[in-house]
Amino acid sequence: MQTAPLGPEAPTVTVIGFGCMPLSIQGRPDDESERVRVIHSVLDAGVTLIDTADVYCLDDDDIGHNERLVAKALAQWTGDRNQVVVATKGGMTRPDGRWERDARPERLKAACERSLEALGIEQIGLYQLHAPDPNVPFEDSVGALAELQQEGKIRWVGLSNVSVDEIQTAEPMVNVQTVQNRLNPFFREAIETGVARYCAASSIGFLAYSPVGGGRLNKKLPDHPVLAPIAERHGVSPHAVAIAWVMAQGPNVIPIPAARTAEHALDSLTAADLVLSTEELAEIDAAEFSRA
Ligand SMILES: NC(=O)c1ccc[n+]([C@@H]2O[C@H](COP(=O)([O-])OP(=O)(O)OC[C@H]3O[C@@H](n4cnc5c(N)ncnc54)[C@H](OP(=O)(O)O)[C@@H]3O)[C@@H](O)[C@H]2O)c1
Repeated sequence: MQTAPLGPEAPTVTVIGFGCMPLSIQGRPDDESERVRVIHSVLDAGVTLIDTADVYCLDDDDIGHNERLVAKALAQWTGDRNQVVVATKGGMTRPDGRWERDARPERLKAACERSLEALGIEQIGLYQLHAPDPNVPFEDSVGALAELQQEGKIRWVGLSNVSVDEIQTAEPMVNVQTVQNRLNPFFREAIETGVARYCAASSIGFLAYSPVGGGRLNKKLPDHPVLAPIAERHGVSPHAVAIAWVMAQGPNVIPIPAARTAEHALDSLTAADLVLSTEELAEIDAAEFSRA
């Protein structure tokens, strides 16, 4: 698969990464060997960016489930682990299975230590602030990331769920390599608010999360009146078309689709070789993607 820079100072990675969230949250495959098999399928296909988070789990008692799974999959994999960038996140919690933000500096530092242990490594590749915490000054959260980097606990810094203002606030404090925000045909706020454009202009890697719409909306893609005929014409799935459209939103856009089956995971990677015409892109731009 083709590669592209992850960020201004980060290495090149494959133009499509893999998100591991559904392998550890509600609805995850029962069998651990099946979860490992899904991760191995994308690693074997050459993917070199794996996205995880401490909170990809069932609840606070299960924190680190996904990171431990990624660590296990990498340990059992026969390929070259050094080529793979593992991106994780801190700054959220899962009380009783809810998703809550907690990006207090001391909590971020403790979360980072826990992630190092769960991943079984001494330095995290890409460490991302999962989301700004409205109860914590943004600078304080970013300051904790800067300190973790100075201490050598994390190599590169990323932000997630941020605005252009927040990226600009962080930039004097830390070298921002990536921004991970939602981008798919149903949700285009990353384009509308200028975040994707700002990242492109600054060579910051834009990690597009939920690129096929997430667990619920992706099921609407096969019946979509614009996407389905384009998919048929190219002999690919509508999911691949959605991912190719996401990739076309900028040279720095790296989608991180997820899947609970190797079949779906590998299907999404076919988007790497799919070139949509200007007309097809315009058709998708103009199409309605109902979230109902
Ligand atoms: N930073 C954040 O706040 C944030 C938030 C959400 C997600 N993320 C990251 O982004 C990753 C992806 O996001 P996501 O899981 O929300 O959404 P997604 O990748 O848009 O959708 C995932 C679901 O779509 C289905 N799917 C994907 N590719 C398919 C294909 N080719 N054919 C058929 N079905 C397909 C899968 O179904 P099956 O499960 O049945 O295979 C999967 O559960 C996550 O794993 C996580 O790493 C980050």
